[in-house]
Parts: sequence; structure tokens; C-alpha cells
Amino acid sequence: MELKGRGIVNLDEANFRAHNEAEQSNSDEKSVGATGFNPYPEHTTQTLADMISRYERTGRAQNVSFRDLVPWVKMGERATHYIHSYPAKLLPQIAHFFLSAQSLSKEGDIVLDPFGGSGTVALEAILAGRKAYYADANPLARLIAGVKTRCVQTEAIIQAADRVERRYSNARIPTGSAPSVVNLEYWYEPEVIKSLCRIKDAIEVETDCAIKNFLRVSFSSVCRKVSLADPRLSVPVRIKTSTTHAPDGFPDVWKGFYSQVSNNLRRMQNLLQMVNGFDSAFYVGDNARSLRAPTANFDLSPEALGDKSVDLIITSPPYAGAQKYIRASSLSLGWLGLANKDGLKPLENASIGREHFPTSSHRECPQTGLDVADRIIKRIFKVNPLRSVIVATYIIEMDAAIKEMTRVLRPGGHLVLVIGNNEVCGLPFKSSEYLALICEKYGLSLKLKLIDEIKSRGLMTKRNKTASVITREWVLLFEKKAAKQRKRVDRH
Ligand SMILES: C[S@@+](CC[C@H](N)C(=O)[O-])C[C@H]1O[C@@H](n2cnc3c(N)ncnc32)[C@H](O)[C@@H]1O
Repeated sequence: MELKGRGIVNLDEANFRAHNEAEQSNSDEKSVGATGFNPYPEHTTQTLADMISRYERTGRAQNVSFRDLVPWVKMGERATHYIHSYPAKLLPQIAHFFLSAQSLSKEGDIVLDPFGGSGTVALEAILAGRKAYYADANPLARLIAGVKTRCVQTEAIIQAADRVERRYSNARIPTGSAPSVVNLEYWYEPEVIKSLCRIKDAIEVETDCAIKNFLRVSFSSVCRKVSLADPRLSVPVRIKTSTTHAPDGFPDVWKGFYSQVSNNLRRMQNLLQMVNGFDSAFYVGDNARSLRAPTANFDLSPEALGDKSVDLIITSPPYAGAQKYIRASSLSLGWLGLANKDGLKPLENASIGREHFPTSSHRECPQTGLDVADRIIKRIFKVNPLRSVIVATYIIEMDAAIKEMTRVLRPGGHLVLVIGNNEVCGLPFKSSEYLALICEKYGLSLKLKLIDEIKSRGLMTKRNKTASVITREWVLLFEKKAAKQRKRVDRH
């Protein structure tokens, strides 16, 4: 691709300047975006109250379509949601529905997602004028969430992209060291590796963190797109013939990067229009079982996140043995230097829902202490001992995560848990029921059960032979009882 005269600056400058002028002239307005666009135009308080009273009367789960519940949220692009792909992303409409309910949170309240992934809840929370806290075990997820929720002036991005383009054109050979990607040559053609190295070198010398991270997220998408991994699958599986390749046999790496930056720049413009430069998303750690005090960068605070400091939690935890987040991110983690070849295993071991355990761990049938789950686990053990350890470990680790969520939630605060049931070895594994029981054990009372069909989460199309495809998700709303209330319930 010819680079001269086709820089990102030239392409988007006119648009971007018009946008910036509009933004500055409205700089006093805080509640709506620069263009007067209100990302939260309607309340869902009454709809939610009706659903809760129906649940109180019948005790039954209600089938809903979250897309229909918030029809003003159009399908497709919204602010920076699509800045990077991520497995099992939450439908933004689910977060939106609960953030629009005044009974659950108000402007300025703290909304936490301890399994934050790529930051869907965090982004919707800042669009709703809440303070967003997010945690995740996957460093790529944290990077994406950080970029998604951080307003960066587009002029600065355009200038940085121009500098990267110049450096890339001038450096014909890569200057830095090769990335620590597992089986690098298996996943990439030699020419592609060279081009990616040149782009990476050109990005890494940028000095402003926010801008560098924006460019790194764009670069990460390209790393996956120009690889020999099948784009239809979330984990890397080598494809026989690549559709991304140009007629000369190689994908045009620079062109891919250029187009990704352009698209993400448009998304950032859109975010700026919606929030008018106001952003407040904070990182609260890499482990949902031990949340840390908030920081504005990716430093892990030595202090724990305060007891009863959070108003609302909305989260979609991992499924038991059903999604391989670290494996799915492995190429990007290596290219970005977020985890080298040896660093992937420890990250996987820190992830709830993981699948790999040593043979020694499944010689005896594991137990979780949760009777209903243990009965199923016993049956699974007879068919496949490894699977029984996977699901038992999941229950035990989710117990610790729910305990931590309860600790940080204020009395009267709410938890929205989005989770699917699946089958393990042909047996029903009702994660939603088990997690609900754990929640009750820690003093969270169930107020509402909803069921939504999964259409958009890119979930688990190709999973191991012992598990089924998940097509419905359960959305459970809990309230943390006040201490007095809890004592009364315990006495009865
Ligand atoms: C279903 S995904 C969340 C997707 C997210 N809602 C989104 O829209 O992108 C579950 C997430 O839990 C994370 N996770 C797994 N174990 C964790 C742990 N111990 N602490 C925090 N996050 C963890 C995974 O890395 C994954 O990103």
C-alpha cells in the first residue's frame, strides 16, 4: 500500500475538526454529550418494579428480550464498544437496562464489574454518569477496558498515528526484539512478522500512555487478523487458506492497522460526543476474589477495596470450563508484551473456569460443600474425573468471588449476575442455581430472575465434546440485606 499522501491525518482531519469545534462550544454541559446526544434518555425504573412484583407473586423466571426492553439503544456501534473483539462479551443492553433504573443507582454512584472483561459494563456505567470500577484476570481485557473508557482527544490520536506512520515508513527493518509469542512462525508468515514488528516498534516509542494504549489496542486487533488463525473461532486454530491475504500471498499489515486506527478513531469521536470529555473508570485489580482500592492506571493498589463501598454490581462471570480467555488472547498478549510464553500458564491458573488440571488432582471425587452441586459432581466424576474437578473448582472459586462481592457491596445495594446453565458430560450443570444458592448464603436475597436468549455473545460455538452450546442466559437480581434484616432472617 502506498503510504505517502494517504495518512490517517488527511483522511479524518476534516471530520474530526468539525467535531472538536462542536465539542468546545458545549463544554459546560455535563449530563449529555457534546452534540446534545443523551446516551441514557429513558428510565426503566417502573418496568423493573413491575417485573419484581410479578416475581414476588409467582416466584417464576420471566422470559425477556433486553433488546426490546431498551429499544432506544440501537443495535450496532455505540461509543467505543467495538474497539476490540473479546470472547463472551456482555450484551450492552443488559447493562443499560439496569443502569437506567433509578432504584438501583443514581448519577455519581459506584458501579463495579469484578469480571469486567473488555469493559462493557464500565463503558455503559460512565455513559450513565456513574463511577465505573472494573477488574479482570486477563491483562488484554484490562487494556481494552481501559482504552474503551478513557476519553482521548482525537487530534492527539491523529498526530500520534501520523508519527507512527512516518517511523514505520523510515524503518525498513524492525529495531526491537522479536515478540514472545508461542510458535510465532506457525501463526505468521515471515514477512508479516517483520511488518508487525515495525509497527510495534513505531508505537512503543510514543510517550503518552493513553495514546499509546489506544494504538496498542488497534495493533492487537490487527495481530489477530493477519495471523494464520481462523477468524471464526475465538481461540487460535490454524486455517488452511487465509482470506485476509492479498494476491501476492501476504496480508497488507499496514493497511490493516491503518484501517483499524481509523475505525477506532471514529469510535472515540463517538464516545466524546456522548460523554463530553467526562470519564471516570477505575481499575480495581486482577482478581475478583481480592478486589483492590481503585487506581486510574493499571497499578495494583496494596489496599483492599473498601467494605460496603459499592452501590451496584453488574457482572457476567466466566462459565465452568467453557471459555478459554487466556488462550483466545495469547497472540495479542505476546505481541503487546503483556505475557510472554512462560507467562500464559500463570494467567490461566488465575482464571476462574479454567480447564487444565494435573492428573493427580482428579484421582478422588472433589466436593464443594454445596449439596446440589456435589450430587451432580459425583455423577460427572464417574464419567470423566477431570471434568468433575473443573466444575468443582469453579464452584469453590466462584464462592470466594461472591463472598468478596458481598463484602464490598453496601447494605441495600444490588448485584446483577448474568450466567448460563450448561451441560457437562451430558448432565445438566445449573450454574445459575448454584451461584444463586451461594449468593443467598452470603446474605444476598434474590429479587428477580430473567431469561434472555443469547444471540450476540459469540459464545462457545466450538467447545469441547463434553459440553453443550449455551443458548440462554439467566439474569439474576439480588439485594444485599441490611445487617438487622439478616439477623431477623437467620433467627427464623
Ligand atoms: C464472561 S467474561 C466477561 C465479559 C465482559 N462482560 C465483556 O463484556 O467483555 C468473564 C471474564 O472473567 C475474567 N476472569 C476469570 N477469572 C477471573 C478472576 N479470578 N478475576 C477477575 N476476572 C476473571 C475472564 O478473564 C473474562 O474476561
